Amino acid sequence: MPNKQILKNTNAEILNQFNASLFFDKKLYRQDIKGSIAHSKMLALQGIISIDDQEKIEIGLLQIKEEIESGEFTWKIEDEDIHMAIENRLSQIIGAPAGRLHTARSRNDQVATDFTLYVQDKTLDIKVKLKKLIEVLVDIASNHTETLIPGMTHLQHAQPINFGFHMLAYANMFKRDFERFASSYERNNYSPLGSAALAGTPHNIDRFKTAELLGFAAPSNCALDSSSNRDFALEILFNIATSMMHISRISEELILWSSYEFGFVKMSDEYATTSSIMPQKKNPDVPELLRGKTGRVYGNLIGLLTVMKGLPLAYNKDTQEDKEGVFDSVETMEISLDILTAVMDTLIINTTNMEKACKIGHLTATDLADYLVQKQNIPFRTAYYITKDVVAHANRLGKDVSELNIDELRASSEELQNVSEEIITYLDLRNSMNARNSYGGTSTNETNNQIKIFKDWLKN
Ligand code: ARG
Repeated sequence: MPNKQILKNTNAEILNQFNASLFFDKKLYRQDIKGSIAHSKMLALQGIISIDDQEKIEIGLLQIKEEIESGEFTWKIEDEDIHMAIENRLSQIIGAPAGRLHTARSRNDQVATDFTLYVQDKTLDIKVKLKKLIEVLVDIASNHTETLIPGMTHLQHAQPINFGFHMLAYANMFKRDFERFASSYERNNYSPLGSAALAGTPHNIDRFKTAELLGFAAPSNCALDSSSNRDFALEILFNIATSMMHISRISEELILWSSYEFGFVKMSDEYATTSSIMPQKKNPDVPELLRGKTGRVYGNLIGLLTVMKGLPLAYNKDTQEDKEGVFDSVETMEISLDILTAVMDTLIINTTNMEKACKIGHLTATDLADYLVQKQNIPFRTAYYITKDVVAHANRLGKDVSELNIDELRASSEELQNVSEEIITYLDLRNSMNARNSYGGTSTNETNNQIKIFKDWLKN
């Protein structure tokens, strides 16, 4: 049976390759060392290990940290994962006391702790980056509360709005993202350490102490749950997926707006790319990549949800598949936020083209209908049909409704024969925008109110 023979010879090597997580979970070295130092301190405080051994363990762990950071550390696949790699190296450095570190813990609560610490650290980093992006958007908004741009539904011209208001829509999305990261941080801020393999430990440990030393709010409650829980990882994946969806939507608009047909914005040269064959081209590769990268972070979320769905309690090795997707999503999110913030910060905004576009598509047609309802007590549905006639008349004249003079308006529909001249002011684009002064509406006045609310929020 030659096949069996081949397998036998390469068994150890293939198995190590398949089983090991070291080459991706070595990213967790900082969290692993931090967790081990806290655990050893707690063991010493509880009299489970001697103070002398604890000191040796801590000094050894700090040396390992230095070795890893200076590139001196020898990574061996036989160590299987970051936890064993560090423990094995600790034995080489300090000898016997290293063997006491793993008292009252298992790799199951150890990996859950390391990974939770990683997710919590990254959640804070992402919050900082989201805030920077929101600052830039609010800044653009402040400068453009009077810049008209066609508001669209179905990608068709609908009503005039101001560009600042448009930016605030995105600022609101990213603010919700920020709050989502903040709330998942609180929800997951519990230390699994000391849950041990699945059922807790007979040693007299103090899980509140380790939780405190690691900066968690408290220890997690049920050891059986804690040793196999990955909700914290799913939550950051979902938070990232949602935020990348928002990044993708603004990227889509940047791509459209920088097309010749729109001409609303230009990406600064630093963030635009050229074509290798068409010398005249300036391509929006950057927002296209931001839009494209959304795919992989969705994949990472669905991937982990699927890994977790059939697992019996408690730890199963399937769970080792949790890390790469999270690392990838986190790194994708961090660079995407940095890039989008820089793109927005350097965006060249063509207000002339934005305002010009407002004169296409009869953006103030609804204002005409609203005027007839408010001033002439005409039922809205009737006003709607009168307005349709006006739009048809304007089309025949090759004009936009906002450009009709009073004679043209009066001639456009029988019901408008005697309409007051004041109607002209209602059809003016800027007046139309400013008329929408309801809370959260697009008027310059209300946009400024909303900017103020944002600026207060950003201060805290
Ligand atoms: N490398 C493992 C992981 O990432 C660590 C936990 C291993 N625990 C175990 N009982 N095999 O999930």
